[in-house]
Amino acid sequence: MTADLFDGLEAAGPAREVLAPGAVLLRGFARPQQAELLAAIDAITAQAPFRRMVTPGGHQMSVAMTNCGPVGWVTDRGGYRYDPIDPQSGQPWPAMPVLFRELAETAAREAGFAGFAPDACLINRYEPGAKMSLHQDRDERDVGAPIVSVSLGLPATFLFGGFKRTDKTQRYRLVHGDVVVWGGPARLAFHGVAALADGEHALLGRQRINLTFRRAR
Ligand code: SIN
Ligand code: FE2
Repeated sequence: MTADLFDGLEAAGPAREVLAPGAVLLRGFARPQQAELLAAIDAITAQAPFRRMVTPGGHQMSVAMTNCGPVGWVTDRGGYRYDPIDPQSGQPWPAMPVLFRELAETAAREAGFAGFAPDACLINRYEPGAKMSLHQDRDERDVGAPIVSVSLGLPATFLFGGFKRTDKTQRYRLVHGDVVVWGGPARLAFHGVAALADGEHALLGRQRINLTFRRAR
């Protein structure tokens, strides 16, 4: 009885929602690895702490960021770029844990993008009130690879739009463990995150952490 029920769930696979052609939300996909993910994030941020970067226009971002992997996304008065060196420490970014790479690769495969090999993982920390305005991810050399985004901690409202900033956006509530993958025809879609509502998450307290995997070079 129990075995039959379990088999049924296995066959159904992870709960998924299609946001647009090429964009899939995999509900709870990262949950089984939550403990290892959080331990790895602690180790990375001990070496490369979260910091609020400044945009080329001179605004300090509300989201605090760090990176792991061969290159990291950075912004300063000079522009946006992928840099192999953490400008704050002068050292290479912490290595990307195998667990991160495998999670990103399996989520991408599940969404229809086999062979994803990320070389950058941007780690975003949202505290209550922090938000990310609508933008396209277009600093990567080759937009043939998808973006894989893992949500941990407090729930957020993810905005997913079209190819123009002014296109209508759909709103999705992303909770701890959810993974969104967008690539192919959706790769350059505008997206963002609404101001984080205050709350208390059992494992992460008053914050949301997002891992965004890219193929940058
Ligand atoms: C991003 O676009 O880099 C972040 C998306 C998110 O925090 O869900
Ligand atoms: Fe983005």
